[in-house]
Amino acid sequence: MGWKSEWQRSIDDPEGFWMDQAHTIEWDRAPSRALHDLGGPVPEWYADGLVNTCWNAVDRHVVAGHGDRLAVIYDSPVTGSVKRITYAALQDRVARLAGALKARGVEQGDRVIIYMPMIPEALDGMLACARIGAIHSVVFGGFAAAELAVRIDDAQPKAILAGSCGIEPGRIVPYKPLLDAAIAQATHKPEFCVILQREQGLADMTPRDTDWEDFIEADPVECVPVAGNHPAYILYTSGTTGAPKGVVRATGGHLVALDWSMANIYGVAPGEVFWAASDVGWVVGHSYICYAPLIHGCTTVLFEGKPVGTPDASTFWRVMADHKVAAFFTAPTAFRAVRREDPQASMMAGHDLSGLRTIFLAGERADPDTVDWIAKVTGKPVIDHWWQTETGWTIAGNPIGLEALPVKTGSPSVPMPGYDVRVLDEAGEPLPVDTLGAIAIRLPLPPGTLPTLWNAEARFRKAYLETFPGYYETGDAGMIDADGYLWIMARTDDVINVAGHRLSTGAMEEILATHPDVAECAVIGVGDALKGQLPLGLLCLTKGIDRPEAEIVAECVKLVRDRIGPVAAFKLACVVDRLPKTRSGKTLRATMAKVADGTLDKVPATIDDPAILDEIGTALQRLGYPVA
Ligand code: COA
Ligand code: AMP
Repeated sequence: MGWKSEWQRSIDDPEGFWMDQAHTIEWDRAPSRALHDLGGPVPEWYADGLVNTCWNAVDRHVVAGHGDRLAVIYDSPVTGSVKRITYAALQDRVARLAGALKARGVEQGDRVIIYMPMIPEALDGMLACARIGAIHSVVFGGFAAAELAVRIDDAQPKAILAGSCGIEPGRIVPYKPLLDAAIAQATHKPEFCVILQREQGLADMTPRDTDWEDFIEADPVECVPVAGNHPAYILYTSGTTGAPKGVVRATGGHLVALDWSMANIYGVAPGEVFWAASDVGWVVGHSYICYAPLIHGCTTVLFEGKPVGTPDASTFWRVMADHKVAAFFTAPTAFRAVRREDPQASMMAGHDLSGLRTIFLAGERADPDTVDWIAKVTGKPVIDHWWQTETGWTIAGNPIGLEALPVKTGSPSVPMPGYDVRVLDEAGEPLPVDTLGAIAIRLPLPPGTLPTLWNAEARFRKAYLETFPGYYETGDAGMIDADGYLWIMARTDDVINVAGHRLSTGAMEEILATHPDVAECAVIGVGDALKGQLPLGLLCLTKGIDRPEAEIVAECVKLVRDRIGPVAAFKLACVVDRLPKTRSGKTLRATMAKVADGTLDKVPATIDDPAILDEIGTALQRLGYPVA
């Protein structure tokens, strides 16, 4: 069976198609049907099934006799250590941690925040929550205390699991002061915190904290079956405003879709080694560092390091060779970083990549130049695929396990089963091929995608369902060509993509606006050769301010770093007199971004005063934009 027939069947008969796929999962009670209309914003998958994610990711492999197989290879160039964990050992670690959580009163449906670096205990924490039906919410370590506080108030966790520190190239990042500050700022207080003390940076403990090693001295517990539509986790992602969106992932669909993706999209078999070089704080880390490889019985590589600087640009090749990685997945920016340091990939020498079959890219647009370079230096197929935190797995890809389709560099290829992707105009009418428009997906979305936002059903409807009734609005713009291939061109909202990290310019503007000297501001995404995009702030000062502009700019940069975190990578800002607006008062951010990138070919007809664009152009030139 090929891609086309599988996809067609999934659209014509979603019920039959997804009931068939559900057989790869071990259910405590099989679902009676796939789609359930429960009166929520969208139908829910496998809602009357009973199942446990941890059982499917860990225990069932042990029961099947694969206890000695490696589940996790932790490779940490920043600490100089490699640790191998078998499925049997993982089962023991997770069952004891789950037992400890249960002993402290964490029940099914309770939330647990995980604020940890890329260490095995982060995976233990996620799986232990799944084991007892608790709902985890992992928060990326590069976020500041205020962002963590927002997530604590929204998720209202009973417990927080944290590491004492993270390790960035050249510096230790103490997590505990950030955690303590976040709890102090938040209205909701967790009942207890469990702190993993890392020797690179020990944390000061408070009466609320328990040492991880003491905590896990507990009796193991078994897996608790939960309903197919029970939330497995909440993962916060950037939206248009400062308040992040809590994407909910339902258990049954997550299991079925991820298992399908491993065989059909990534083309890997149980027992093979899969490496996603991302972070557990992002959706790629949830789906393809933790859950999917384990559900499928593969070995997952947990890499605590960076593509460069830990110690150098040979690291990727070394890890692939040392652990016989069969499929590798990262964001294009990671390879751009490697290429910048080692343009000829001479550091690949001596690393045997014969076991590597395919390289996958996602998280941002895969620019053809980078794709061609990776293909040239590795001699391997390079497969782009497009997806989002909301979907949890591929919307459009090239399903090499099912049928390897011709690659068109610059396109993530074709829709995956269950995704009926359309390009619409502003009125919601379908556009002809090769015509740029808003990308939307006809409902229902396939299993594994979000059923709602945590505590925010109205926001879910408004953000995704209302613009185009009957469709899910992706927030991406692009087109479909005559062969049915998708081309993803830009976001339609104020989200930007910096080094594969999704950030909200609106959130940065909200913070800049709190600076006492800033009367008005705009943040735009400007092109960057390494990170794809960088945020750039344009600041209009309050009348009568008589301080050096450089001082105010430096304070603004610090403000964003302190409030959002280093991951915002907000380092560029300048003072301008006015911002360009439409006659109805809407700031023309996209137009300014085009000025910065040197791609503005037409001044919008709706602009109130075109002369302001010249002023913006002059200010941007002083910052070095557009880059020659
Ligand atoms: N904890 C604390 N700080 C963190 C952090 C973490 N987990 N992750 C990143 N940061 C900090 C960095 O140290 C950096 O701080 P700085 O401003 O003091 O230098 C800042 O956040 C920005 O980080 P990043 O965007 O990662 O930039 P970088 O210059 O350190 O590295 C790349 C650039 C391209 C090497 C890096 O972004 C990368 O490997 N990207 C891969 C893409 C990826 O994993 N995407 C995830 C989705 S697939
Ligand atoms: P995130 O939710 O962090 O995974 O970010 C999702 C967004 O990243 C998408 O909506 C796109 O804008 C962008 N994105 C992800 N993958 C791709 C891709 N392969 N090509 C183009 N853009 C992508």
